[in-house]
Amino acid sequence: MADWDLLLTDTRLATMNPALPGYGAIEGAAAIAIRDGRIAWLGKQSELPRGDALAHRSLGGCWITPALIDCHTHIVFGGDRAEEFEQRLGGASYEDIARAGGGIMSTVRATRSATADELFAAALPRVEALASEGVATVEIKSGYGLDMDTEIRMLEVARRLGDESSVDVRTTLLAAHTVPPEYKNDADGYIAFICDEILPRVAQRGLADAVDAYCESIAFSASQVATVFDKAAALGLPVKLHADQLSNCGGAALAARYKALSADHLEYTTPAGVDALSAASSVAVLLPGAFLTLSETQLPPIAAFRGKGVPMAVATDCNPGTSPICSLRTAMMLAARLFKLTPCECLAGVTREAARALGLLDDRGTLEIGKRADLALWNIGHPRDLAYWFGTPQLAERMTSGHTTRS
Ligand code: NIG
Ligand code: FE
Repeated sequence: MADWDLLLTDTRLATMNPALPGYGAIEGAAAIAIRDGRIAWLGKQSELPRGDALAHRSLGGCWITPALIDCHTHIVFGGDRAEEFEQRLGGASYEDIARAGGGIMSTVRATRSATADELFAAALPRVEALASEGVATVEIKSGYGLDMDTEIRMLEVARRLGDESSVDVRTTLLAAHTVPPEYKNDADGYIAFICDEILPRVAQRGLADAVDAYCESIAFSASQVATVFDKAAALGLPVKLHADQLSNCGGAALAARYKALSADHLEYTTPAGVDALSAASSVAVLLPGAFLTLSETQLPPIAAFRGKGVPMAVATDCNPGTSPICSLRTAMMLAARLFKLTPCECLAGVTREAARALGLLDDRGTLEIGKRADLALWNIGHPRDLAYWFGTPQLAERMTSGHTTRS
């Protein structure tokens, strides 16, 4: 029996291994060996142990990074919000539109009236657009149903996208996204419905890998979110939070109190919130597409995250309202230009730290022995190019579990 299924030689590796500095680069001819869909060996080619491989490819100096991971999306939805985009260009604010019954609620109406097949057909090209840039893992949230049937339908469609597209999908229940009309003026009643009915059903059917909520003046208070998180904890589900996006609601501290996998957005997070995330080892997920689309000017506290060692991930937040972007490379570019992340932080943010934000770091997100052989092969001169160029296809090939699934 062969030692390896596939041996790749004459490559340059950006391993993103946290034990190595920067990109964790192995240059000057590196090799990577794959067996049973996992990385069996990697290092300098001159140190390659003796072994035979079923297949061998010499890659002519091509850079390889971990395949990319989009750790925050709302990619399953009905309709779109192009009209609201025009209203916002005319001066209306996101909150104004939401309070007038538009915003998230207009997507809820379109999603409720869409069949599972329609939602799947609309989402598939978005998922494949991410894949075309080297993404192999995508997190997908519910949150445009806000009733039992539609929240479940969204999660089923998300699971089906994982089964039938070329990406691995992690699902998140976001029933606490906004208060549906059935519970107008009774947000507590809706929270009780989530805890007593939706969460147990979703958990029992294994439809969600995590639970999210939107802590904001136009959504839910910290104590309402805490009620949802208590129930999630009782059901053994990890949590994450849309926190401090439009105002300081103490979201980061709340997420930290529940040892959240991540707190996301964070434009209005205070120094105390940064300290709390640091102590809880939660990931700060930065969403520059929403920052751009909302014409936000309040920057997330990047220097404080760096200073306190809070890991930073970068994601698209792909959604029809605040972040109509199906491009993780664009999110990397925006994180560099708007948030001044270094290109190395941008790449770590869509590989290692994105894996950490999904609780998957033991399995993927870096090039290390034992991890899934999810690889992106690039036509680039240096890994910094990935945050520098935009709108430029540079993926040569994507492998998932050691097989070429995009080229
Ligand atoms: O991540 N902040 C709340 N949720 C989404 C927006 C959803 C929408 O407007 O449809 C976000 O930005
Ligand atoms: Fe979001």
